Amino acid sequence: MALRNIREEGDSILLKTCRPVTDFNRRLHTLLDDMRDTLLEADGVGLAAPQVGILRRVVIVMDTNKEELTPEEQIIELINPQIISCDGEQTGQEGCLSVPGVYGIVTRPEHVVVRALDRYGKEFTVEGTGLTARCFCHEIDHLDGHLFTERAQRILTPEELEEMNREDK
Ligand code: NI
Repeated sequence: MALRNIREEGDSILLKTCRPVTDFNRRLHTLLDDMRDTLLEADGVGLAAPQVGILRRVVIVMDTNKEELTPEEQIIELINPQIISCDGEQTGQEGCLSVPGVYGIVTRPEHVVVRALDRYGKEFTVEGTGLTARCFCHEIDHLDGHLFTERAQRILTPEELEEMNREDK
């Protein structure tokens, strides 16, 4: 278990396309375990491997709709994920651990179905709605070098950020 350094906007690694995972070995499991620790420590809802400097198609997403689960239990590990269907639309605030302090308004599907492999190479599908659907899209975008700032209709102003922070308290 170890924390990894989160790369920030301006680091060219975040703009690169990641390669699929082919070996479901100890190295992958260590990466996933470290990503879990790093995400929980950073208090985020999702993390993609390129954010910790690894150009492989690996993401973790927290299913925050499952309120009965602990944060640790909410984490879904997705290897070589693909969105196989999406429907509906949601427009709302989005941020990223690699773009600290910046939030934008982004439109995403309301519901997505993702097919992926688990850490042992076994295929599964998982559905997400609301924030979880947004998070699947956001993290999978990272694997192709896309940041939410490219997708944002606009970035929140300092006044709106202040308002948002007030609401959080
Ligand atoms: Ni992100």
